[in-house]
Amino acid sequence: MTNTGSSPKILHGAVVGCGFFALNQLEAWRALDGVEIVALCDTNETRLAETGARFGITRLYTDIEALLDDEAIDFLDIATTPPSHRILVEAAARRGVAAICQKPIAPSLADARAMVEAMATSGRPFMIHENFRWQTPVLALKAQIAEGAVGLPFWCRISFRSGYDVYAQQPYLAKGERFIIEDLGIHLLDVARFLMGDVASLWARTQRVNETIKGEDVATIMLGHVNGTTSVIDCSYASTFERDPFPQTLIEIDGTSGSLRLTQDYKLLVMNKSSDRTLDVTPLLLDWAQKPWFNIQESVLNIQRHWVKCLQTEAEPFTNGRDNLKTFALVEAAYESASAGRIIEVS
Ligand SMILES: NC(=O)c1ccc[n+]([C@@H]2O[C@H](COP(=O)([O-])OP(=O)(O)OC[C@H]3O[C@@H](n4cnc5c(N)ncnc54)[C@H](O)[C@@H]3O)[C@@H](O)[C@H]2O)c1
Repeated sequence: MTNTGSSPKILHGAVVGCGFFALNQLEAWRALDGVEIVALCDTNETRLAETGARFGITRLYTDIEALLDDEAIDFLDIATTPPSHRILVEAAARRGVAAICQKPIAPSLADARAMVEAMATSGRPFMIHENFRWQTPVLALKAQIAEGAVGLPFWCRISFRSGYDVYAQQPYLAKGERFIIEDLGIHLLDVARFLMGDVASLWARTQRVNETIKGEDVATIMLGHVNGTTSVIDCSYASTFERDPFPQTLIEIDGTSGSLRLTQDYKLLVMNKSSDRTLDVTPLLLDWAQKPWFNIQESVLNIQRHWVKCLQTEAEPFTNGRDNLKTFALVEAAYESASAGRIIEVS
């Protein structure tokens, strides 16, 4: 860690994985104060060179062990796809380097638990890059709940339905046995925990509408929360719209004295007995962001700002490894429920 007298410490990081989503992470790191990405790693040399040139990063590696041998970094940001997550997190843990790992944390709960354990043994911070709860509209809705605008929430629906061609930029999504719950539903399950609390039981159904892909592209999940409330999660990449809401998450919450509706075009309706209000919760269009992705891109900046603050203040990240195991356990439970056709009790 570099400390220049009385000025704040500049955190030095490295990013492994220079693919589709890592570009957002690199843009966000560049925009943040107090942090600098000093090295990159990717097994694909062309991508590595292109990304290095784009971000002015000259310390480039095709092997993570070589990077960790050579670079004195404060954290490793892992932006690869899930099959490599465990090996990369364990490499960081062995060197005592703090780590961020993209979602889904791992291909299986056993791998995920081993990774959380390895980072706990290292004693270094570990955060899953679970960014949906960091979206401006979701934070605004959470703030309304916290202010008591609708009383006690008792029912919630979280919906992400679209016909957007996600396979064009992420072709691997069409090839896995698992698709929409593991890739997208995971975010909505995390938002459900964030808004309504931990989950006691779950029932799920999945469908595959697009026959050119291998996994499920439609999922409907009902959650029974520990506090007795209920959530419904529905996600689809097979739905047709006149104006496709992609990539907006739409949320309805009913409370004991009112209700909240997060609707298309980033409007938040707050309805209760004394008044009805519509708040504009449009995310910032950052100078490196593009529509329609800007909502997601701003949330990447928000979660990475949180990480920098956590490292500077030695605070635990909200979506730390242990917390994220609870979200990932819901993914596993949803697949088990859909396959067995029954309700799963979540331990
Ligand atoms: N939060 C979000 O909104 C969001 C959106 C898209 C993707 N993601 C997540 O981001 C992750 C990456 O997805 P993507 O679409 O960018 O994938 P991608 O395939 O475009 O990029 C992954 C990169 O990692 C590299 N790589 C793989 N294994 C490696 C290893 N062992 N060492 C070094 N480099 C390695 C590949 O060569 C590739 O360049 C996934 O976990 C995905 O779920 C999150």
